[in-house]
Amino acid sequence: MAFFSFFFFLFSSVLASSLFFLFLRPTRFRRVRLPPGTLGLPLIGETLQLISAYKTENPEPFIDERVRRFGPVFTTHLFGEPTVFSADWETNRFILQNEEKLFECSYPGSISNLLGKHSLLLMKGSLHKRMHSLTMSFGNSSIIRDHLLVDVDRLIRLNLDSWTGRIFLMEEAKKITFELAVKQLMSFDRCEWTQNLMKEYLLVIEGFFTVPLPLFSSTYRRAIQARRKVAEQLGTVVRDRRKESENGGRKKDMLGALLAGEDALSDEQIVDFLLALLVAGYETTSTTMTLAVKFLTETPLALAQLQEEHEQIKARKKESDQKHLQWNDYKSMPFTQCVVNETLRVANIISGVFRRAMTDVNIKGYTIPKGWKVFASFRAVHLDHEHFKDARTFNPWRWQKNSSGATTLNAFTPFGGGPRLCPGYELARVELSVFLHHLVTQFSWVPAEDDKLVFFPTTRTQKRYPIYVTRKNETRQCKDSHLDT
Ligand code: HEM
Ligand SMILES: *[C@@H]1O[C@H](CO)[C@@H](O)[C@H](O)[C@H]1NC(C)=O
Ligand SMILES: *[C@@H]1O[C@H](CO)[C@@H](O)[C@H](O)[C@H]1NC(C)=O
Ligand SMILES: *[C@@H]1O[C@H](CO)[C@@H](O)[C@H](O)[C@H]1NC(C)=O
Ligand SMILES: *[C@@H]1O[C@H](CO)[C@@H](O)[C@H](O)[C@H]1NC(C)=O
Repeated sequence: MAFFSFFFFLFSSVLASSLFFLFLRPTRFRRVRLPPGTLGLPLIGETLQLISAYKTENPEPFIDERVRRFGPVFTTHLFGEPTVFSADWETNRFILQNEEKLFECSYPGSISNLLGKHSLLLMKGSLHKRMHSLTMSFGNSSIIRDHLLVDVDRLIRLNLDSWTGRIFLMEEAKKITFELAVKQLMSFDRCEWTQNLMKEYLLVIEGFFTVPLPLFSSTYRRAIQARRKVAEQLGTVVRDRRKESENGGRKKDMLGALLAGEDALSDEQIVDFLLALLVAGYETTSTTMTLAVKFLTETPLALAQLQEEHEQIKARKKESDQKHLQWNDYKSMPFTQCVVNETLRVANIISGVFRRAMTDVNIKGYTIPKGWKVFASFRAVHLDHEHFKDARTFNPWRWQKNSSGATTLNAFTPFGGGPRLCPGYELARVELSVFLHHLVTQFSWVPAEDDKLVFFPTTRTQKRYPIYVTRKNETRQCKDSHLDT
C-alpha cells in the first residue's frame, strides 16, 4: 500500500516536469556542459537507490560509487527533478556563499505549509538579512554567557533528576531541547501548557518526515491540523505579550526582541517565525545529543577521557561551592569540544542543503542550468578520507591541537555557511556540552537493546536509543534540585 501510493505520488507530481525534461532536454541543454552522471529511470530517476541506501546504516556507497565514476560533482535525478550533487567542499562553499546571488533555497510546498511562510528558513532578501542577524545576535556567545546558560544548566539538571531505570534517550533529549526552546523564545517554564504544546508540536514534526507522499498521508493532514493549534496557542501568547510591552513590560527573550524590533511584525509573522525556530533547533539538537551518547558508548576510551575531564570540573566546583556551570567551566572542556565536533562530523544530522540555480552557473568547467536543483552534501565531504584521515570512524582525538589526523577545517560545515549559517550553532554546542557534563558525572549507562542508525527520512536511531541508567553514588538527590527551579 505504501509503495503503491509512493509510486503514484511520484508519477503524478513528477510527470509534468519529467516529460518536459525528456523532450526538451536535447534542445535546451545541448550546448551546456552538464556535470557527468546518470539520470536513472525515467520519472523517478535515482530516488529509490538514494532512499534504499539512506535506510541502511551505511549509505555511503551511493555517493562513493558516483564519485568514483564521475568525480565529486555529478548529475543525478532525485525527487522528481534533475539535480547536481556536490560532494566537493569548494563547490559547497561556493553554493553557500552565493545565496541569493546565484542560488536560492527552495522547499517543497508541503514543507512550506508546515513551516509557515514567514519563517526565517523561507524568508528572502533584506527582510531575511535583518531577521537572520537578529536571530544571530540573540544566540551569540555573550547572550548565552550572560543569560541563556543558567537556563540550559538548570533545565538539563531538572530533566536528569527524573531519570531511573530504562529510558529512551531520544525522548528524554527531546524533552530537554523543547523546554529549552520554549524558555528561550518565550520565557515559559515547564507547565501543563508547555506539555500540551509539545504534544501538538510533535505531530507537526512528524509531518516533516512524510516527505515522499505528503498529500496522501494522514500523518501530514494531522500535522497541518496540529500546526493550526500550535499557531493558535502561540498567537495568544504573542497578543498578551504585545499588550504587556505596550504597557512598558519587556522580557529578555526572543519574543521580546521580535516585538521590540524595528520591523513592526504582525502577530502572524511572529508566530511563523517562532514556530520555525522551534522546528530548526529542536530535532537537530536532541538527535545530536543522542548520537553523541551512542558514539561514546561504542568508544569506551573516549568516554573515559570525557568522564575524567568532567569529574575534574565537578571537583573544582565542589571546592568553590558552586553548583551551576559557568561560562568559564564551558570554556575549560577541551576534550568535550573535540567530542562535539566529532559527533557533528560523523552524525551529519543535516546531511546537506538543497538550492536552486537562479541563472546558468559555471563551476569546475561545467554548467548548472538555470532552474536546476543542486544538493551541497556536507555528509559526503565530512566522510571523505582526503579531508579527515580514516574519516568513517569516530575519533574525537583528531580534533586535538597536536593531532596528526589532519583535518581540513574549511571542509567542516555542520551548520552550513554564508547568509544562512545556522544562528543556533553556538547554542547547540553549549547545550550538548552541558548535557554531557551532567550525564557523565551523574550516571553510568548501558544500551538496553541493539539500535541502528538510519538516515532516511532523517538521521535517527530506529528504536529511540533505549538505555538503562544507574545513578552514581554521591550526587545530589532530588531534594535540593527542586529548591532552585
Ligand atoms: C546540532 C544542532 C544543529 C545543527 C546541526 C544545525 C544545522 C543547521 C544548518 C546546516 C542550517 C543551514 C540550512 C540551510 O543553509 O538551508 C541551519 C539553519 C538554521 N538553524 Fe540550525 N542547526 C542546529 C541547531 C540549531 C538551533 C539550536 C537553532 C535555534 C536557535 C537553530 C536554528 C536555525 C535556523 C533558524 C536556521 C535558518 C537560518 C536561515 O535560513 O537563515 N539551529 N541549521
Ligand atoms: C551579541 O548581541 C548583542 C545584541 O543582542 C550585542 O550587543 C553584542 O555585542 C553581541 N556580542 C557579540 C560577541 O557579538
Ligand atoms: C570545532 O569546529 C569548529 C568549526 O565549526 C572550529 O572553529 C573549532 O576550532 C573546532 N574545535 C576543535 C576543538 O577543534
Ligand atoms: C595530544 O596531547 C594530549 C594532551 O594534551 C595527549 O593526551 C595526547 O596523547 C596527544 N596526542 C598525540 C597524538 O600526540
Ligand atoms: C556506592 O553505593 C554502594 C551501595 O549503595 C556502596 O557499596 C559503595 O561503596 C558506594 N560507592 C561510593 C564510591 O560511594
